[in-house]
Amino acid sequence: MRLLAVDHPLVAHKLAVLRDKHTNSATFRQLTDELVTLLAYEATRDARVAEIELETPVATAKGVKLSAPKPMVVPILRAGLGMLDGMTRLLPTAEVGFLGMIRNEETLQATTYANRLPDDLTGRQCYLLDPMLATGGTLASSIGYLVSRGADHITAVCLLAAPEGLELVERETSQLGVPVTVVTAAVDERLNEKGYIVPGLGDAGDRLYG
Ligand code: PRP
Repeated sequence: MRLLAVDHPLVAHKLAVLRDKHTNSATFRQLTDELVTLLAYEATRDARVAEIELETPVATAKGVKLSAPKPMVVPILRAGLGMLDGMTRLLPTAEVGFLGMIRNEETLQATTYANRLPDDLTGRQCYLLDPMLATGGTLASSIGYLVSRGADHITAVCLLAAPEGLELVERETSQLGVPVTVVTAAVDERLNEKGYIVPGLGDAGDRLYG
């Protein structure tokens, strides 16, 4: 697993406002959208492209276009939905699928309650969107599922990650045989006894959607 914690003053500034408990839902949604677009720029560095030739008004030129099959963007419901527009702004031709996952707040185990994805993801580059990588159970299970359907390149975009969750994702995905990258705005200190990221930003789903 490759980890990319994006070091950029605009990312740090927007994240600080997201962390602030006084930031209201409308501002939180807007800033999440902006922050994800900045993260998406870094997350798409490995996007597969094919060379093309085109005509400028002056001459023939070489360029690139995104390769087929289309990349797949998968927000993990509910909170990942708040990241979808920010991501598809940079990847407007991507296909979008959905995974609904809920973490039991006592056992911290993640279970899937909705799945709207193509059965066959063979050869697809997938971008998973989930704001919080806490214990890592949700992300590890989602990555395993996409790979079992044939996805061969996974990039997870998160607002925040905990060291414990990154370790779990590393452990559970190292044998899958596909490149996995986690792009995040920051790696925080730790998880607390309730499985919340510290200092974190609280419950992203609640802050986005109340
Ligand atoms: C939160 C968060 C992640 C997950 C992270 O979702 O949005 O999906 O928990 O936890 P983990 O790394 O310990 O698995 P939640 O289950 O609260 O659902 P929600 O998005 O509907 O609020």
